[in-house]
Amino acid sequence: MTKHVVVVGAGVIGLSSAILLQEAGYAVTIVARDFPGPFETMDPRTKINYTSPWGGAHNRWVPPHPSLPSHLERDHRFSLRTYARMKQLHASHPGTAGITFLKGIEYLERPGPEYLAISDGKDPNRVHNPLGLPGFRLLSPSEFPADGRVTWGCEYDTWCVNPMVYCAFLLRRFVHRGGRVVARELRRPEEVFFLSAADLLGAVSPIPVAGEGESVSGKDEKVVTIAAVVNASGTGLVPDPNMTVTRGQTCVVAEDCDATVTRQNADGSWTFCVPRGFEGGTVIGGTKELNNWDTKPSPEVRRELLSKFTETYPKILAGKGELTVVRDIVGRRPTRDGGPRIEGEVMPGAGFVMHAYGLGGRGYELSWGVAEAVVEAVETHVRKEPEARL
Ligand SMILES: Cc1cc2nc3c(=O)[nH]c(=O)nc-3n(C[C@H](O)[C@H](O)[C@H](O)COP(=O)(O)OP(=O)(O)OC[C@H]3O[C@@H](n4cnc5c(N)ncnc54)[C@H](O)[C@@H]3O)c2cc1C
Ligand SMILES: *[C@@H]1O[C@H](CO)[C@@H](O)[C@H](O)[C@H]1NC(C)=O
Ligand SMILES: *[C@@H]1O[C@H](CO)[C@@H](O)[C@H](O)[C@H]1NC(C)=O
Ligand SMILES: *[C@@H]1O[C@H](CO)[C@@H](O)[C@H](O)[C@H]1NC(C)=O
Repeated sequence: MTKHVVVVGAGVIGLSSAILLQEAGYAVTIVARDFPGPFETMDPRTKINYTSPWGGAHNRWVPPHPSLPSHLERDHRFSLRTYARMKQLHASHPGTAGITFLKGIEYLERPGPEYLAISDGKDPNRVHNPLGLPGFRLLSPSEFPADGRVTWGCEYDTWCVNPMVYCAFLLRRFVHRGGRVVARELRRPEEVFFLSAADLLGAVSPIPVAGEGESVSGKDEKVVTIAAVVNASGTGLVPDPNMTVTRGQTCVVAEDCDATVTRQNADGSWTFCVPRGFEGGTVIGGTKELNNWDTKPSPEVRRELLSKFTETYPKILAGKGELTVVRDIVGRRPTRDGGPRIEGEVMPGAGFVMHAYGLGGRGYELSWGVAEAVVEAVETHVRKEPEARL
């Protein structure tokens, strides 16, 4: 009997989880308030709480270290798994998946111990690559930006996605393989357990005959038996007291760039670019403002972001005087104190909920690793309770 899993959320985390659950043999429905659409028509005033359109999005490696929160070890494993799957997807769908492989460059003005551990702090030739990064190389000072404030740098092979091209590809793949989607706003994830078959299977989908996998409720309505619910609701749903947002302001420019470049400044600010590919230009960023709910982009911040980036990486100008602004972006990274919540929970009177939220600024780069963990936890739960009728 095919088990049904409902995924709440159609951001990068919900979509990736839904696809891997399908591959594991589950019948999957995605229930979400927001779905991917063309970035060009995405309205920030109505979609500010849907983070996936507003991401960069690139993969940068974040080195774990004993001096840093321990979830970074797990997260690094997730990012390596994501890299491997992005490589496969890009190879099988080079023109349609929205993925670009390119060099990632890191510049640091004041590297922390996690970076110094990579270079041994002294001799650039004594690199160990404990993180297993493909194409890793330390930069020599002659390759640093001209202003002289960068003291540590490296490059490696990495990937970027054009977020809405990529997410739309995932959604299309999911539906093409038989996945169902329901556009609905929920108050609590438990509500999913009480949706009717008609709700879950959608008006356009054939409703299977009552029998296996279904029961009949008191009101003579078909109810689909749900093996698990995945809570991939980003910043949504019932408040988790440890959830907040980290505001990010960035700016899309028309110019392309040959690398994704990230600079960590001594004052704690960030200067970076993320080439989107697929005629999406390049994202220039960006701010990281914990607990800031302001939805309006600031023109001064935009000016500063663009000038700092062109100073750091003048190559993007290709000899021109200035960058061509396409639009400003403000987004809310779903940030969780204690790191992303990737764990299952049996909700009394409802059923098994697998949480996959709080990905902060790393949702794309950890997505496939998180999705694999989701499948593993759902499988473990289903094996434990093979006959669960919820
Ligand atoms: C400026 C900026 C730059 C970024 N750059 C990068 C980057 O370079 N690399 C990277 O990896 N990440 C980056 N991120 C972070 C990344 O975008 C997020 O981590 C990721 O998009 C989170 O995805 P998600 O699926 O968890 O949440 P979301 O995309 O927010 O999706 C949540 C889903 O849940 C649904 N939902 C929520 N509440 C309800 C409800 N009550 N009922 C029904 N449905 C509901 C929503 O409709 C939506 O479908 C960046 C973010 C910002 C803002
Ligand atoms: C986004 O979420 C916040 C807090 O949860 C809410 O107050 C706001 O109305 C939401 N904005 C939109 C556009 O839905
Ligand atoms: C589901 O995720 C949201 C984050 O979007 C979180 O606030 C909420 O607590 C989670 N639901 C449950 C039942 O824990
Ligand atoms: C919030 O985070 C703290 C540690 O930062 C943790 O002890 C606590 O259990 C978390 N609360 C929830 C609801 O997850």
